[in-house]
Amino acid sequence: MSEPVIKCENVYKIFGANAKKMLKDSNGNVDAKTFQDNGCIVGVNNASFEVSKGEMLVVMGLSGSGKSTLLRCISRLTDATGGKIFIEGQDLLQLNNKDLIDLRRNKMGMVFQSFALLPHKTVVENIAFPLQIKGVKTEESISKAMNMVKLVGLDGRENYFPRELSGGQQQRVGIARSLAVEPDIWFLDEPFSALDPLIRKEMQDEFLRLQEKLQKTIMFITHDFDEALKLADRIAIMKDGIIEQLDTPANIVLNPATEYVRKFTEEVPREKVLLIKDVMDSSKENLGDLKVSKDEVIENVAEKILTQEKSVAVIDNNNNVIGSINPAKIINTVFGGRKSNN
Ligand SMILES: Nc1ncnc2c1ncn2[C@@H]1O[C@H](COP(=O)(O)OP(=O)(O)O)[C@@H](O)[C@H]1O
Ligand SMILES: [Mg+2]
Repeated sequence: MSEPVIKCENVYKIFGANAKKMLKDSNGNVDAKTFQDNGCIVGVNNASFEVSKGEMLVVMGLSGSGKSTLLRCISRLTDATGGKIFIEGQDLLQLNNKDLIDLRRNKMGMVFQSFALLPHKTVVENIAFPLQIKGVKTEESISKAMNMVKLVGLDGRENYFPRELSGGQQQRVGIARSLAVEPDIWFLDEPFSALDPLIRKEMQDEFLRLQEKLQKTIMFITHDFDEALKLADRIAIMKDGIIEQLDTPANIVLNPATEYVRKFTEEVPREKVLLIKDVMDSSKENLGDLKVSKDEVIENVAEKILTQEKSVAVIDNNNNVIGSINPAKIINTVFGGRKSNN
């Protein structure tokens, strides 16, 4: 397997004058309450994980759980108090200032909840700005920025000023601006949280379309579990600075690791999240005539399967039977493990 693009080993971020000493004395066993009684606030508590090339890791947690702090450590907007962070194998904390600036300018793109556009520059000028900081000539930067304008669907609005755009459109500019330098690693901190639900859904769809095309390595932060399920290859669920579970959306819904995680999954309509392959059996015996693809969302084929008497064959992309699913399993998946309504 190729080297991870992002790798965190026992990363801690603790705020307070005594942070370093207290972390050292604790031997890595950080209790938030004890630290707080000693004037320290625990932002990130012993985070270890990897993100591989082209993967989208969504970090989900309620406000104050440490999501932004974790991201700030990895983009080195702040220094971790302890642990190691590697970007493409390079030890982030060993980089000198120049290398760090290079890394941020050329490898990393960032999008935040507040669009932070320059009010006196037009859409295309805003997008071209990071290129110009890098020293790209005006004409070339504008031409590249125009490509980004098209990419995010703002054709025809390139000469508008930010105040002339809706929130969703402003965030499209933010996204385009962060993509202008063609970063390999993309950090997004609650980019859609300030948008209305309908616009938000549209932006999520658009974002998935973009990622399909661009295949960036992404850390995407949200406090919205549904958004996490929709976007993520894998989800890290944070609470009080600790990653409670890191797994695929399907595994989180099927096997929540802690009571805290289970609470989030309770209301999730499983048939909308899980695919046939997530719940199929390996048995290939005694199958009826119907076949379904392993990649179907359960909701889309449930009705068909429920009318069958025999088990239904599950096939892969080459039409090979790789397992089966029976009607009882569908009923179990849809109705089992959900909060009862009585
Ligand atoms: N600069 C700081 N100084 C002190 N405490 C901070 C600082 N930044 C964040 N915190 C604290 O760290 C914890 C995690 O914050 P944050 O990462 O912003 O959470 P989230 O992004 O999940 O809402 C919170 O308790 C917050 O108050
Ligand atoms: Mg935050």
